[in-house]
Amino acid sequence: MPILRSAFIALSRNASLRRFSEQSSLGRAMSSRFVAGMQVDDVLCAAESIHAQGIAATLDSLGENVSTPEEARHSADIYHRLLDAIHQRGLNANVSVKLTQMGMDLGHDLAEQIVSELVQHAVTVNSFVRVDMEGSEYTQATIDMVRRLHAQPGNQGHVGIVIQAYLHRSAQDIATLTADGIRIRLCKGAYKEPPSVAFPDKRDVDGNFVKLTQMLLTSGIYHGIATHDEEMIAATKRIVRQKGIGPKTFEFQMLYGVRRDLQKSLIQEGFNVRVYVPFGTEWYPYFMRRLAERPANVLFIARNMLKK
Ligand code: FDA
Repeated sequence: MPILRSAFIALSRNASLRRFSEQSSLGRAMSSRFVAGMQVDDVLCAAESIHAQGIAATLDSLGENVSTPEEARHSADIYHRLLDAIHQRGLNANVSVKLTQMGMDLGHDLAEQIVSELVQHAVTVNSFVRVDMEGSEYTQATIDMVRRLHAQPGNQGHVGIVIQAYLHRSAQDIATLTADGIRIRLCKGAYKEPPSVAFPDKRDVDGNFVKLTQMLLTSGIYHGIATHDEEMIAATKRIVRQKGIGPKTFEFQMLYGVRRDLQKSLIQEGFNVRVYVPFGTEWYPYFMRRLAERPANVLFIARNMLKK
């Protein structure tokens, strides 16, 4: 399985396959399992139907590593439209953004200016901007930027971050961020990292995930525990029971199209659940990372397509 995981991660960076897949109707049909359509209206429809099930959403306009400031600003415009639409429709939803899509590779100041405008917009419509975490070359800069944005007057509670349990450094980062009162989404981590920065062994990642979950749930801040792993969910529930933590003082988070059965059962048990809903034409790298997490999804998608 680790070989398949690496193969899918390598494919996620293959430019020709990406071009071909994103333009083909077969590619788009395959991606629809994990991607809620190509347009803003598609993702809003998905968020409405999720909302009707009592589940919250975070909307992600797909795209990474833009190459001009205009592209970065265009990406941000889509998020401004989303924040307005969420507000107008009264949806229980917020947005998730990637710094490389906001121009991080072109200049940290450019990305910070663009994200700062998004956070200010989120403040005016009482929403929230989650800054996703990308590869480890961006970790420190992402943390520094989110801390600066969160420290701006009025921004508290309107901008948050993601921490990855596979990184050796994450306990220290959580201590720093929670001391600032910053909301964190904890996930395992989806990028290819060397053993010098990340645990290579799933057992160690899982052990760290549980340790970090305990730090988050006892911090008094509203955080997100993002996983589909039943063992991690069971461990979270154990911590909740042992520490007498209220089920509404944090949320479970899952990806669109993954383990809908678990999403529903957690809601029925009285927990908050938020689903990460990606959309847009640049779906290929995201889709390949989902296949890397569970190569059996290839068979699952193929079977569903044959049924149609
Ligand atoms: P793990 O991969 O160990 O899988 C455990 C079990 O969960 C599997 O055996 C299977 O049953 C189920 N499962 C997992 N993935 C599945 C899939 N794709 N399809 C079907 N079943 C699946 N990463 C990152 O680096 N930066 C980020 O900002 C984010 N943001 C983020 C937001 C949200 C809401 C989620 C849920 C995840 C992320 N991630 C992320 C991705 C995350 O790091 C991780 O790669 C995936 O969540 C998979 O890890 P699991 O914890 O689900 O467990």
